[in-house]
Amino acid sequence: MFDELLSRLRDNVRRGLPDQAEQPMRVPASAYSDPEQFEREMNEIFLRVPLMVALACEVREPGDYVAFDLVGRPLVVVRGDDGRIRTLLNVCRHRGAKVTDEVCGTARRLTCPYHSWSYDTTGALVGVPGRDTFGDIDVGGLVELPTEVRSGAVFATLDPDGELDLDTWLDGLDDSLAALRLDEFHPYRTPTYLDSPNWKLSADGYLDGYHIGYLHRNTIGRKAITNRNTYDFFGPHVRIGFAAKAIEELEPDMPTDRPVSDFMSLVHYVFPNVSLSGGHGDTLMMSRLLPGPAVGESRTLQFQFYREPIVGDMVAVAEEKRQTYEAVVRDEDCATIFEIGAALRAVGDGHFIFGRNEPGNQHLHQTIAEHTPHG
Ligand code: FES
Ligand SMILES: [Fe+2]
Repeated sequence: MFDELLSRLRDNVRRGLPDQAEQPMRVPASAYSDPEQFEREMNEIFLRVPLMVALACEVREPGDYVAFDLVGRPLVVVRGDDGRIRTLLNVCRHRGAKVTDEVCGTARRLTCPYHSWSYDTTGALVGVPGRDTFGDIDVGGLVELPTEVRSGAVFATLDPDGELDLDTWLDGLDDSLAALRLDEFHPYRTPTYLDSPNWKLSADGYLDGYHIGYLHRNTIGRKAITNRNTYDFFGPHVRIGFAAKAIEELEPDMPTDRPVSDFMSLVHYVFPNVSLSGGHGDTLMMSRLLPGPAVGESRTLQFQFYREPIVGDMVAVAEEKRQTYEAVVRDEDCATIFEIGAALRAVGDGHFIFGRNEPGNQHLHQTIAEHTPHG
């Protein structure tokens, strides 16, 4: 699968063009700041569609969990003692405190810090201190959200009564994800958090093959050939190939025994809010874009993954890489999108433009517009 992508990328480099959209596209600057538009995005997209909430390898063993807030919903994705992965509301059934404050961990019980109600790894309520003093209660456990695993990725919907129709939603993306063999990865369980002035400003960065050689010219863009990307669309989702300079050494039809990842980078953008960067080689970076409760609040939660378990000397290697990426994204991408966020008022009812060479971004904004018709 990736050989075919590599040959398309090499062709793009030869002819000096990326895959292109039909024409440039204008997006109103208010799309990033209008509270009503944001409400539509949350109600019509985030609270409805299947969301990629985790990789199954993040919760490999019973009791492994990962927890984060999304659109004001505290979630915990946990593998139960029965082997099943569930997405639960991280909200105590007593009076609503979070049952875990950690972003990830392993636990036999999730115990609420407030009054110590405890839940097992399936979410069932198993302990109420002073139960004989409390009176009769009719509480099964933590609220469970519909959850399904596909190609090593965990999908859930924030609507407890919602349905997951992943065949329709993924539209072939699952085959591309399967080629990454996600189950083989091991998470480095130290998170990076990055603040953002709007979730779509962050999303634009992940879908953009045009900025790498400019904004990142002294860091991660040094070995990249910019603006020659491949773009593939699977329903609302986008796969982007990025050429590395080494691709110029590849002759057509000349087999090479070097790994594909020497010649190209790869991003799967899983709509609406997850970027999987890499995975075609031995490393993977997962970024969850987590819109907050208001239009101007968002944060990105990033984890690094490796094909081998992160033990011994690997811990220092993983931590160094984590810090390197954190610095690049914070000092280059985030610094820029905060400038854009601050400029939105100055732009007023003006527009931004996505070029023919930015079809990934165009696809994102078209998809959002389709889901959020006005009035
Ligand atoms: S709020 Fe959780 S035990 Fe009281
Ligand atoms: Fe970037």
